[in-house]
Amino acid sequence: MTCVDDYRLTLGGKQYVPLIIGGMGVDISNSHLALEAARLGGIGHISDAMTMAVTDRLYKTSYLKARTARNRQEPPEPTRRDVPFDLTDLRDATMLHVSKTMDRKRGPGAVFINVMEKLSMNAPRETLKVRLEAAMDAGIDGITLSAGLHLGSFELIAEHPRFRDVQLGIIVSSARALALFLRRAKRVERMPDYIVVEGPLAGGHLGFGIDDWQKADLPSIVKEVQDMLAKDGLNIPVIPAGGVFTGTDAVNYLSQGAAAVQVATRFTITRECGLPDHVKQVYLGAGLEDVEVNTQSPTGYPMRMLTSSPALGSSIRPNCETLGFILDGEGHCKYLDAYDATPDDPATGRKMPVTDRVCLCTHMNAFRVYTCGHYVYRLKETTVLEAPGRYLLPSAEHVFWDYQFSRDHRIALPSVSGEAALV
Ligand SMILES: Cc1cc2nc3c(=O)[nH]c(=O)nc-3n(C[C@H](O)[C@H](O)[C@H](O)COP(=O)(O)O)c2cc1C
Repeated sequence: MTCVDDYRLTLGGKQYVPLIIGGMGVDISNSHLALEAARLGGIGHISDAMTMAVTDRLYKTSYLKARTARNRQEPPEPTRRDVPFDLTDLRDATMLHVSKTMDRKRGPGAVFINVMEKLSMNAPRETLKVRLEAAMDAGIDGITLSAGLHLGSFELIAEHPRFRDVQLGIIVSSARALALFLRRAKRVERMPDYIVVEGPLAGGHLGFGIDDWQKADLPSIVKEVQDMLAKDGLNIPVIPAGGVFTGTDAVNYLSQGAAAVQVATRFTITRECGLPDHVKQVYLGAGLEDVEVNTQSPTGYPMRMLTSSPALGSSIRPNCETLGFILDGEGHCKYLDAYDATPDDPATGRKMPVTDRVCLCTHMNAFRVYTCGHYVYRLKETTVLEAPGRYLLPSAEHVFWDYQFSRDHRIALPSVSGEAALV
C-alpha cells in the first residue's frame, strides 16, 4: 500500500510533496499556514481576497479608512458605491501582503496566491491586472486563478517580465471550461503550468450550477480533463481538489495519474489557520445535517457553508463605500439589490432579515460565513476532545504529515501534549 510520500509533483523544474493547501479567502489560508506547507516541502496558498482589509488588520495600514474618506467626498448613496478602488493603494497592499509572506519563506516548498476573478472590485480588468502584477513583483512563486473563467487573465499580464517564469495555474470544474481557457491561452502562446480540477465536495464557491453539483463527481471530471489533455497532446499536471480527506484518498488520484492533490477543509482547524478558534470549534462540532450548498453568495456561484453561519439572514447595511470588493463594473452587487428589496419590519422599523443573499465582504472579513468542504462533519475524527465540547486543534505540520505518510485511510490523532502522533 503506497502513501503520498511515494509520489512527487514536478513543477517549474522543482520537486514538491504532492500536497497543496488551497486558497481560502479572506486570510483563512493565511501566511502562517501557507508558509508551513512550503517549509514541509509542499505548496501553500495565501489569498488575495480583500487584501486591503487584511493588511490593515495585520500591518496596521489604513487603506480602507482612506477609501471611506475619499468616498465620503463623493455624492451620497447610491453613487458612492461607484467610486473606484485606488489602484496605487491596491498595488501597495498586495505588494505588502505578498512580500511580507515571501520574506519569511523557509524550506523546499512554494507559496502561491489564489486570485479570484469574481472579486471584481468595481473595475474587473483594471483591479485584476494590478493584483496579478503586484503579486509577481513581490516575488510570489505561483498564481492560481480561481472563481471565474479567467478568459482574459493571461492576456492582461502577458507583457509582465515574470509572465513566463512564474507558475500559473487555473481552477476549473469541467473539461469544457478548461477548453475555453486553453483556447484563449494559445493567443499568448502560454499554457497553464498546472490545472486544479475542483469537484462538487469542495469548500468555498462551487463551479457548478445549484441544480448540477450533486450530479457531478470529481473522479469523472478528472478523467475527462486528463483525456482531453492527452487528446490535445498537452502534458500539464492535473490536480484534483474537493473531498480528499485522507492520504489514501490522495493516493487514489495520484495512482491514476494526478500530479498532486489540493486540500483545504482538514487544515481549517489547525492552529495556524486564520479562522478564530471559536469558529474552528464550530467546524469540529458540525454534523452532516449542518452543511448546505446555497445561492447566498452575491458572486452568483453556489457556496457550501454551515447553516449556523451568522451571516445567514443578517440584514446588515451594505458597506460598499469601504469594502465593495464584489461590486461589478457598474457598481452593482446582488446583496445590494436584495437589501434594497427587503422591507422594514413595521413593528420595529428595522430592516427584516435579508434571506436570499449575504453581504459577503462584511461577513467574510469578520469570519461569519462558515464556508467548508462537504466532509467538515468528519473533522472530529481527526483529533481528540481536550475538554467537554472542546477539541484539540492540531498543528498544520501534524495534518500535513498525516496526509503525507498515512496508509489505508488511517488518520493519526494529535496528542494532548502537542506532539504529533504519526502513523
Ligand atoms: C474555508 C474555505 C475557504 C475557501 N476559500 C476559497 C477561495 O477563496 N478561493 C478558492 O479558489 N477556493 C477556496 N476554497 C476551496 C479550497 O481552496 C479547496 O480547493 C477545496 O476546499 C478543497 O477541498 P476540501 O476542502 O474538501 O479539501 C475554500 C475552501 C474552504 C474550506
